Amino acid sequence: MKPMNWIKIFPLSILSAEDFLKKIDISGKKLCVVKTEEKFYAIQNKCPHAGAELSNGWCTKGKIICPYHRQEFDLETGRGAPGQGNYVDTYPVEIKDDGVYVGISKPWWRFW
Ligand code: FES
Repeated sequence: MKPMNWIKIFPLSILSAEDFLKKIDISGKKLCVVKTEEKFYAIQNKCPHAGAELSNGWCTKGKIICPYHRQEFDLETGRGAPGQGNYVDTYPVEIKDDGVYVGISKPWWRFW
């Protein structure tokens, strides 16, 4: 397992909020965080097709749909739909005692 920096992105009060897609800026990365009834997902916010912000898209059946050309990406794996040949980076999200955290891999060259 890769070493992670766990960064708090929301207080626990967010658990009672409506489902959403939000852009967040964290550790120099722009992520799209998706809250569904079941869980949170975090993926890169920039669409690999032509750079649209996925946080302006929408979700259906475990996929996020890009608002520009409607390519789809699996929220769990980041894989694009068959035939797209692309993917988005995914990040683990955990609900801890004091909030919701996203895990960002530590760069291997600074692993000490
Ligand atoms: S920019 Fe996302 S599908 Fe084209």
